[in-house]
Amino acid sequence: MAGLVADYDSGDHLQGPARVSRMNPFHLYLDSADLSEIRSCLPHPVVHGVTTNPTLLKRAGVTRAALPGLLTQLLKLGAKQVQAQVQAADVDGMLADAEALLKPFDSGQLVVKIPATRAGFQAGAQLIARGVPVTYTAVYAAEQAHFAAQLGAAYAAPYLGRLDDSGVDGLGLIAQMQSLVAGSATRLLVASIRSREAYLALLGLGVGSITIPPRLFAELLDHEATLAAERGFLADANFGAAGDSKL
Ligand code: E4P
Repeated sequence: MAGLVADYDSGDHLQGPARVSRMNPFHLYLDSADLSEIRSCLPHPVVHGVTTNPTLLKRAGVTRAALPGLLTQLLKLGAKQVQAQVQAADVDGMLADAEALLKPFDSGQLVVKIPATRAGFQAGAQLIARGVPVTYTAVYAAEQAHFAAQLGAAYAAPYLGRLDDSGVDGLGLIAQMQSLVAGSATRLLVASIRSREAYLALLGLGVGSITIPPRLFAELLDHEATLAAERGFLADANFGAAGDSKL
């Protein structure tokens, strides 16, 4: 798990909130397989990585054969970690898929996503025992998040928007999941984010990671009032250029 260990700081020298944030840095991911929309966000220091899944690949027109090339480009664009999902539903098939996905990458660069099924927990446990970072995905029940933490997964991914769509109080359930993984090595990686308000509500719960569609990135980063203030500063910064200083 070289990539994960590399960004860990014991934080022993820090106090209060700084200590907490250095010990558990938040991971923002982009949830997309569309290189052109990802390029509109990366490279950027607030982004930890990019998550993909078979549906996102299909939507972006990226075949399985082209996936390693896409992931390599994302790492070159500054992603610290990229995530790709197994396609099989049985343990042996998942492990074979994981081997193929991991092969071109250095340790810790690729996080293997595995659905949080009975077989998925078995396959993921074998990968985790070898030091491979694993995301258990499609997490819809609190106990699945707990199993992910019990097994030492890097991430457990509940889908906020889809939980809400199904009539469940998504934020309430994710708050319960967060209390179950708190203090473990497992971050919730909340997906299916439809709005800035949802993003901020999740930050309020203290989740360790969120993956957002690139269209939300501009809304989080480009605030009109800040841009207007910057325009004013830039205009005023020319004062004195003609040598008319009062001092
Ligand atoms: C999760 O892995 C999915 O890619 C995604 O977050 C689902 O988002 P949606 O429910 O808004 O389609």
